[in-house]
Amino acid sequence: MPCTVLAGGFWGDEGKGKIVSYLALKDPIHVCVRTGSVNAAHTIWYKGKRYALHMVPGGFVNEKCRLLLGAGTNVEVKQFLAEVEETNVKNRIGVDSQASIIEEKHASQDKANSHLREAIGTTGRGVGPAQEERARRTAKLAKDIPELKPYLADVSLEANTAIDANKNVLLEGTQGILLSLYHGTYPYVTSRDTSAAAICAEAGVGPTKIDEVIVVLKSFMTRVGGGPLPGEISKEEAQKRGWFETAAGTGRERRSAPFNFELAKRAVMVNGATQIALTKLDCLIPKCQGARAFGELPDEAKQFISKIEKYLNVPVTLIGTGPEALDIIDRRKKT
Ligand code: IMP
Ligand code: MG
Repeated sequence: MPCTVLAGGFWGDEGKGKIVSYLALKDPIHVCVRTGSVNAAHTIWYKGKRYALHMVPGGFVNEKCRLLLGAGTNVEVKQFLAEVEETNVKNRIGVDSQASIIEEKHASQDKANSHLREAIGTTGRGVGPAQEERARRTAKLAKDIPELKPYLADVSLEANTAIDANKNVLLEGTQGILLSLYHGTYPYVTSRDTSAAAICAEAGVGPTKIDEVIVVLKSFMTRVGGGPLPGEISKEEAQKRGWFETAAGTGRERRSAPFNFELAKRAVMVNGATQIALTKLDCLIPKCQGARAFGELPDEAKQFISKIEKYLNVPVTLIGTGPEALDIIDRRKKT
């Protein structure tokens, strides 16, 4: 902090929601800007309740945190309003006037398009068609929607003002670098760039204002939809290992594979990572469950972390050991 970008290092679903919620409570974060769109679901467990948020930033768990949706986002109005209600953040959430709108027709186009829906395996939320329309310059913007009037904001101005005032600002990315339209496994990708630089661009914050880039890597890899997954194991094997997951947003089964050091190295490079957050270590090594200090980890876990640090040459500063926001080992230097 003050300005940190949080980006996914694999194919999304690395556990960004959990890391954001931890940072929001702990640091604390004053302004949390979400980028991307409604295709992503960030899962947050807080006070025993599970949230799968498609629109509201994960920083909502801190009641003092200002929540913003950047100009680069695509807003699904009904989903946005429902989540604002669910999380009770009406008085502290804003949407950039220039964010574009996903309409019902976009979701219908997404679902009716066999290339998108069957070959690529999109989430069907309409983000690709909404981005097409935005590129054609015919999209509706947030400022055109009466229900969004009370929420309109200048997100770039708010974020930069907060940074200049030395407040903690977090830019929350969606998906992961391997789903990036530019850097991912094209054509099996989402309809936007998902890199740290793109997260800054969507929020309206310049690269010189960024202090830390945290790349989130899960202790094993998963992906939903089509496309390559090096080292992929069967569903039965995934269940045996405790890696089997279903998607928080769509309920689809996630494919899985072991942690891949080469891919992680590339994620670190493209994002310019200064820190790694490693999630779900307790799923890889069950004895890590609930650990809150590095010393509590078994040797096998310590060795895995040190191998990652050596190979990637970036410190693993945050380690997830359970689903709750505070199930984290925090190795950052205390200032
Ligand atoms: P779209 O983003 O819905 O167009 O889907 C394109 C690809 O990105 C598909 O493989 C989706 O499964 C994947 N995808 C989109 N959003 C997410 C996400 O939040 N987590 C994981 N995969 C995603
Ligand atoms: Mg997700």
